[in-house]
Amino acid sequence: MDFKNIPGAPENIVMSGIRPTGFLHLGNYFGAMRNYVKMQDEFTCFFMVADLHSLTTHPDTSGLKQNIYRVLAENIACGLDPAKVALYCQSHIHETAELYLYLNMLAYKGELEKTATFKDKVRLNPENVNAGLLTYPVLMATDILIHRAMFVPVGKDQEQHLEMARNFANRFNTRYEPVFPEPQAFNFNSELIKVPGLDGAGKMSKSENQMATLYLADEDEVIRKKVMRAKTDSGPTKKNDVKAPEIENLFTLLKLVSKTDVVEKFEHDFNTCTIRYGDLKKQLAEDMIQFIRPIRQSANAILADEDNLRKIMKQGAEKATISAMNTMKLVREAMKLNYFK
Ligand code: TRP
Repeated sequence: MDFKNIPGAPENIVMSGIRPTGFLHLGNYFGAMRNYVKMQDEFTCFFMVADLHSLTTHPDTSGLKQNIYRVLAENIACGLDPAKVALYCQSHIHETAELYLYLNMLAYKGELEKTATFKDKVRLNPENVNAGLLTYPVLMATDILIHRAMFVPVGKDQEQHLEMARNFANRFNTRYEPVFPEPQAFNFNSELIKVPGLDGAGKMSKSENQMATLYLADEDEVIRKKVMRAKTDSGPTKKNDVKAPEIENLFTLLKLVSKTDVVEKFEHDFNTCTIRYGDLKKQLAEDMIQFIRPIRQSANAILADEDNLRKIMKQGAEKATISAMNTMKLVREAMKLNYFK
């Protein structure tokens, strides 16, 4: 169903979430946060820390609060303005539980079992295959639909979940009444940037592959060490040689944080076989430090003021709750769960 058929649906709502299961890294910055920051002036934005989702795989909540605070602080340090967007914590929106329940009735066991992330998680953690894990995509659909959001800035790995959210939305609309616009993946007029890890293999990760990942919380020395340890090969053997994946990755990272003339110099050195990888890595390390340091320092300053963070979280929850309550009124009406009327 086309969103334009949903009477009165808002057309400029952006929603996204990030799980508090580890430290934010350069991949999150370029893949998500930088996009969020660009959107905040033009859209009504809901950005959420997905603490409930983290319970599906991390039932131990002892470090959860600290992780949530850090994710919030890092988002603000990257330029998100809590006065412009609703920056909130998923569990503060109680309406989520209700919509999740209704949508669960429209989600089929078969399709949930086929979800790629579910199968991965079962493989990784066969002793904790709980129902919440199975219905993870329903909860994510709820986060989006509860604001009737149409634009969802997410990476490739979330596309299947988004497809499922569209299916649940359409099923609801056809079974009851049209309430939900179809949410779609959205990125701010640029290609999705993939940020490779430093090991020439995978991408950066919140919880795995820590030596190959540059975290926004990494100290200068740690950044230097990680970059200097990055894998390289024995160098180009002929002019304009093809770059090995790990070398390509170093150049990709360089392009993200270094000045154009610096990148051009190393491209030139590579193409003329005069490149010294030690110099490339030194330059990359210093430019990375210049890039990450202000974010880290600002995040640490924000984290140090817990009262203020709590205020921000509360303000975000209030904004998101108003939006959620409005949607739930429509949902209950559409479902005819309004017996007092
Ligand atoms: N599942 C997302 C992830 O793992 C996090 C998430 C939860 C989310 N709810 C969302 C993303 C709603 C976008 C919209 O990264």
